[in-house]
Amino acid sequence: MAKGLFIVLDGLDGSGKSVMIERLKRYLDSKGYRILATREPTDGEYGRQARELLKREKDPMANAQKCLELYVKDRKEHLEKTVLPFLKKEGSNIVLCDRYYYSTLAFQHTQGLSWENVLNANKGFEKPDVAFILDVPPETALERISKSRNQKEKFEQLEFMKKLRKNFLQLPELLKEDTIRIIDASKGKEEVFKQLKEEMDKLL
Ligand SMILES: Nc1ncnc2c1ncn2[C@@H]1O[C@H](COP(=O)(O)OP(=O)(O)OP(=O)(O)O)[C@@H](O)[C@H]1O
Ligand SMILES: [Mg+2]
Repeated sequence: MAKGLFIVLDGLDGSGKSVMIERLKRYLDSKGYRILATREPTDGEYGRQARELLKREKDPMANAQKCLELYVKDRKEHLEKTVLPFLKKEGSNIVLCDRYYYSTLAFQHTQGLSWENVLNANKGFEKPDVAFILDVPPETALERISKSRNQKEKFEQLEFMKKLRKNFLQLPELLKEDTIRIIDASKGKEEVFKQLKEEMDKLL
């Protein structure tokens, strides 16, 4: 590994991103890499506004353009203040990022914005070395969510998530220059982690 690595995990709510980032972090820590585990939306000004909206609103289709703008502003800040400075540091640094522009593209297109609009808004952002899309049927994701917490957020509704999943799966076709791996995340945690570990090992 010559320079730092920028790794993204993305996918539906409840697909297992947080759990898998935690496991990857432990695995890579143990190999001596310096890890930054981070997420979008961030805790910055725009990220907080975006989170607020998710909690407050019920209609998944509302405020698409507003969401797009907040996520993009948050992303710019996240890259400039956190991700890129960490990657530039001396040593074997790995950024593990929970959601990135893949979410913005898939979610805001599902909300009704054109691919052209969402792609344009996200042009020019640093490309990760690899993006893992954790793919699960929405029914599975919703079941996991309902077991892990009480409150459901704006986008966590079956019909919306069905479209969302389809849109996530279109991303490799739309983003030919990105390295995207679709991971079958419907399996048990051990099996999902094994797939991720094998893919990661190829990059190290
Ligand atoms: N492969 C799996 N098999 C069974 N349960 C899982 C699996 N992966 C994660 N879970 C469980 O599902 C729940 C949701 O997982 P997690 O929080 O990692 O998802 P997430 O993608 O981060 O969701 P969100 O986008 O809402 O943050 C957790 O309770 C987690 O323990
Ligand atoms: Mg999570």
